[in-house]
Amino acid sequence: METNRYHEPVLKQEVNTLLGVETGQVYIDATLGGGGHTKEILAKGGKVLGIDQDNDSVQFVSNEFKLDIERGNLIVSLGNFRNIKTIAHLHDYSRVDGILFDLGVSSHQLDAGEKGLSFQRNADLDMRLDEELGVKASDLINGLGLKELTLLFTKYGEEPFAYKIAKKIVEVRKTRSLVTTYDLSDLILHTVRTKGHMHPATRVFQALRIAVNDELVNLERALPDALSLLKPKGRLVVISFHSLEDRIVKQTFAKFKERKLGEIITKKPLQATEKEVLTNIRSRSAKLRAFEKL
Ligand SMILES: C[S@@+](CC[C@H](N)C(=O)[O-])C[C@H]1O[C@@H](n2cnc3c(N)ncnc32)[C@H](O)[C@@H]1O
Repeated sequence: METNRYHEPVLKQEVNTLLGVETGQVYIDATLGGGGHTKEILAKGGKVLGIDQDNDSVQFVSNEFKLDIERGNLIVSLGNFRNIKTIAHLHDYSRVDGILFDLGVSSHQLDAGEKGLSFQRNADLDMRLDEELGVKASDLINGLGLKELTLLFTKYGEEPFAYKIAKKIVEVRKTRSLVTTYDLSDLILHTVRTKGHMHPATRVFQALRIAVNDELVNLERALPDALSLLKPKGRLVVISFHSLEDRIVKQTFAKFKERKLGEIITKKPLQATEKEVLTNIRSRSAKLRAFEKL
């Protein structure tokens, strides 16, 4: 599979401009995916340490970018970006010109279906991006109490019908376990109605994915460590896909500025143009924020 079929990178032009890659400069791509953004950096003569917690992504990029790896321009590392500092030190990437976080999941992870991330494909209700993680989404759905399920859907999904859905789950699982994505999405479809285009299971699936992969905690922990790895004038570029992530990025950058660690470059987050949204629907919810270290 070619890089762009694995995942079409969002806001490519904007990332290129903000990183301003020059030959010989060094970068960390903290969310390698299909290597779409990394490919751009390499094409401009930059060197990249690419990190992803999904073994499938690491295998894919290792094959696809074999030559860059052999030439010493790319290092691929299987790991969680919450350990970005350790991973960077291990590979001598402790002083870099830029770091990119393109959060969430790749199109391949959604479309391949086997991770159970999408309510549009039937699969085990798993959602672990890193298969070494201990708890699956089905463990949470079948194991948490009414109060905890309600809290989870409210806190991580901002789901207005959190209690109603949680109550139905607790009732249904008395007679059968909910083990597949369709078990859960059908239950939600029959429990609530939503207006507009959004599938009624969207928020609950988001909440479960965030909880299973500890996504918000990872991000909160990684951003200050990422800043510490930048050279003066180095740039931190973060693309988020929902308001909970974007809030963390916004507030963290504001704290960096308050502590006089540098400047926020994007006063307002950058978003995809209409043209990009037409060709890549995933870009619709993308928000990009960038910070330059002093
Ligand atoms: C939106 S995709 C990145 C796509 C990539 N920029 C490209 O152009 O192909 C997000 C990737 O980040 C990875 N990821 C998410 N959270 C992570 C974490 N905490 N540590 C490492 N990788 C993570 C996912 O496994 C996924 O492959």
